[in-house]
Amino acid sequence: MDSTAELIAKLRKEIEDHNHRYYVLNEPLISDYEFDIMLSQLEKLEVQHPEFFDPLSPSQRVGSDLSQDFEQREHQISMLSLGNCYSKEEVSDFDQRIRRLTDQNFSYVCELKFDGVAINLSYKNKRLQHAVTRGDGVRGDDVTSNVKTIRSIPLVLSGDDIPDQFEIRGEILLPHEGFNQMNKERLQKGEASFANPRNAASGTLKMQNSSLVAKRPLDCYLYYLAGDSLPENTHLGNMMAASKWGFKVSRHIKEVNTLDELFAFLDHWELAKSDLPYEIDGVVIKVNELDIQDELGYTAKSPRWAIAYKFPADQTETVLESVDFQVGRTGAITPVANLTPVFLAGTTVKRASIHNEDQIRLLDLHYGDVVMIEKGGEIIPKIVGVKQDKRHPLAKPVQFINQCPECESDLNRIEGEAKHFCPNSTNCPPQIKGKIEHFIARKAMNIDGLGQETVELLFDQSLLKDPGDLYCLKREDLIHLPRMGEKSTDKLLESIHKSLEVPFERVLFALGIRFVGETVARKIAKALPNMQNLIESDKESLMEIEEVGERIADSLINHLSDPDNINLINRLADSGLSMESEADEALSSNILKGKSIVVSGVFHLLSRNEIKELIEKNGGRTSGSISKKTAYVVAGDNMGPSKLEKATQLGIAILTESSFLELIEYKNL
Ligand code: IVH
Repeated sequence: MDSTAELIAKLRKEIEDHNHRYYVLNEPLISDYEFDIMLSQLEKLEVQHPEFFDPLSPSQRVGSDLSQDFEQREHQISMLSLGNCYSKEEVSDFDQRIRRLTDQNFSYVCELKFDGVAINLSYKNKRLQHAVTRGDGVRGDDVTSNVKTIRSIPLVLSGDDIPDQFEIRGEILLPHEGFNQMNKERLQKGEASFANPRNAASGTLKMQNSSLVAKRPLDCYLYYLAGDSLPENTHLGNMMAASKWGFKVSRHIKEVNTLDELFAFLDHWELAKSDLPYEIDGVVIKVNELDIQDELGYTAKSPRWAIAYKFPADQTETVLESVDFQVGRTGAITPVANLTPVFLAGTTVKRASIHNEDQIRLLDLHYGDVVMIEKGGEIIPKIVGVKQDKRHPLAKPVQFINQCPECESDLNRIEGEAKHFCPNSTNCPPQIKGKIEHFIARKAMNIDGLGQETVELLFDQSLLKDPGDLYCLKREDLIHLPRMGEKSTDKLLESIHKSLEVPFERVLFALGIRFVGETVARKIAKALPNMQNLIESDKESLMEIEEVGERIADSLINHLSDPDNINLINRLADSGLSMESEADEALSSNILKGKSIVVSGVFHLLSRNEIKELIEKNGGRTSGSISKKTAYVVAGDNMGPSKLEKATQLGIAILTESSFLELIEYKNL
């Protein structure tokens, strides 16, 4: 090795040791300043010597601003979940179950149940290979580039007895301090705050720009080692080994030999959890000996040798002072309780959601009632009960409203639906503001630099009455607004301009048509060539589109028969927004152009999805149900008899797998 290579290797190792001391052991040896100097020395050398580039160098922890799509990756060993229990009796039952299955002596390990996002890290020859989310347990999203930015996760391991290849699982979380800071900044920017640290951690992990992830103080505790040749024959032994290799393993892990000791651990943490700097929602109990774990084995969903004891949701009493009725973007009305402020699980609670009219009836809510509130996974608590015996005899029952509190329109309640709606979608202020916020969201038109407060301000000044007005905003309209200034104004205008490149499927999603989410919008844009075609489609042909059922078809027809909505679409089209589906460049032929095809049954040469892809690649579109517009049915084995009957009745050509492949002249088998 020449000396530059040696120097780079030495710096990398030293920097990672300091990272470990700072982020894992909490025992820094050098100042931040000294650390920064070492890091910049390394960065400089790496720029001068690109031949020594290593994606796992500590310099790579700052992430990159290249946008990424997450690939799916299979776990080497499936990620199972745990059985839950909520009482000591259930923990005793768990213990009894195990003792019936084994005669051997064993101990339990108790540890904290971190409330974050599960992650599976795989290592090969001491180097991090992949970081994958749990997903469906078999495969998840490969989020390696984001996870690399978490300083407490070692990129390269050091130590002895490290297996050549293994997976280690843990939980990525955002400590309270980072969470509060992040929400504060989001509110200042006019962005919606995250409901809880878990959502914030999960949202961060799925961000497309890893350099932004690097700025969020995520942390990671590891709690399970999986692989063929583990160093020890107990869980605790393996966790101690993992901690020696550089992983962050919680100190609050304890081997217990009796149920009494175990219960003492539960009692202790139920009280002490609020002193932790991060969120936990229970305790995990695991059989310590690996041979007994093997003997006990697994059910389809979870190991028989472990269980999660969940703390009861935090509850408290307070008084219902009044009820507000809020109007959402779709016009849905949600009653919200105003409560006498009360401290519950770390925050002061002033409001609680009551969902809908049925809930008010069910609880038989009266003004002034003493109510029980509970904080579950979400930050907005709910009312779970009323102390009837404490009710004032003259208390008035809470009545649902008949008119919109914002625009006074008469409310509708569609049969079978729980919510009331304000029908005035084009003139009711919160609906308009909500629609604009949806329109500019990242997954829709992705217009940056317009927070909730600025939307409100522009709306109040009549500069923004619907999403179409965005494209008429001028520099002089914006520059004098509070918090805007020249730079932000230019950034916003540029972002609005850039949104003209957003493809039709996202424009369609941005319109905020009820029930038309991202996926449905994509399917519609794939099935139909342009907006005009969508406007002219009848219910039957809409229902031929994959994922579009009666409810969505009705909603589309309803939306597109309203002249105000058509007017907005026309204005958006005039502003230059894309109203046409992009031609599929990868089209292999036009043999099936304009043909609607139903695929049904089990196939032998290709999978059903591959057949569907081939239909689309040859210009056709697939549909879930047979109608007189169906051109062909591609039938595999076991096609449903009712489908077969309908196709025969309507005289639709039925193709076998091979005759279909012949038709499209498929030659790749
Ligand atoms: S052990 C086979 N230990 O809880 C071992 N899980 O409800 C499986 N979790 O999916 C996991 N803290 O995301 C384990 N100390 C801990 C945990 C823990 C949090 C999560 C994990 C799991 C879920 C199950």
